[in-house]
Amino acid sequence: MVRSIIDTTDLSVEEIDGLIDTAEDMMEHPREYAHTCDGMILSTLFYEPSTRTRLSFESAMLSLGGRVISTPSADSSSASKGESVADTVRVISCYADIIAMRHHKEGAAYVAAQYSAVPVINAGDGGHCHPTQTLADLCTIRREKGGFSGLTVGLCGDLKFGRTVHSLINAMSRYEGIRFVLISPEELKVPSYVKNESLKKKNIPYTQVTDLEEVIGELDILYMTRVQRERFFNEEDYLRLKDSYILTPEKLRSAKKDLSILHPLPRVNEISVKVDEDPRACYFKQVLYGRYMRMALITKLLKEAGRL
Ligand code: NCD
Repeated sequence: MVRSIIDTTDLSVEEIDGLIDTAEDMMEHPREYAHTCDGMILSTLFYEPSTRTRLSFESAMLSLGGRVISTPSADSSSASKGESVADTVRVISCYADIIAMRHHKEGAAYVAAQYSAVPVINAGDGGHCHPTQTLADLCTIRREKGGFSGLTVGLCGDLKFGRTVHSLINAMSRYEGIRFVLISPEELKVPSYVKNESLKKKNIPYTQVTDLEEVIGELDILYMTRVQRERFFNEEDYLRLKDSYILTPEKLRSAKKDLSILHPLPRVNEISVKVDEDPRACYFKQVLYGRYMRMALITKLLKEAGRL
């Protein structure tokens, strides 16, 4: 079976460091990589709406000299005729050298990887995980902080359904001296399976609070997230919880001078646009780093699969 990436823990910490090194080299010398993937085809197979992640994958492959095939939305294609994910990826494997897949069901990318003849990259599976967003997050954190050890990481918002949060916790739990501050409404706490597998198993210190202002001064990283409307069972709960946290310049007054503020985007209301001018805001750089990290990952997987 070829190697696929379902979550960040499929990559060792050394491999993640190597990917960040490659991404940084790609940022500095883009021309040297402009033909790395000549002749290669990426298929983006997205069963859920996405703008940035899909375009980021497409931009990454085009920047490497490769080409991209995709359907406007996977749900508007064979899935609507009842085709299984297993069959779809078996077919796409005949057309493409690598697949980036997003699906509304947790575990869908894992199933796809079992049947695909080419590497599958999970571009988000339901409320489960989203490893390439985490690669963008890790690249941002390393560039801002110089490394990962000893950081106090605050995750704020929808920690229940936010798959980027789950992947980031899984990834960062592997570094020394990390402490998490989990800030969410009662109903949107980190699921116990994530706490059990990452935090409790490795004795990582964490606290769970509902008030952002109470803890903002302790944080080195503040990772804001959107309340995931599409995963709620009813609209009333969403409306009640959607504006639980809004980061403003006033709230940032008690934060550290070298805090880094991240957000996977899209932003709805969680960060006031007034914060965008603050030098601690990193969320647009994070988008750029995501493109280069995807370039690095695509190249690595295609090489390992013997296609490059
Ligand atoms: C995230 C996602 O899809 O989970 N977005 C992204 O990939 N940049 C976060 C979100 O949708 O809130």
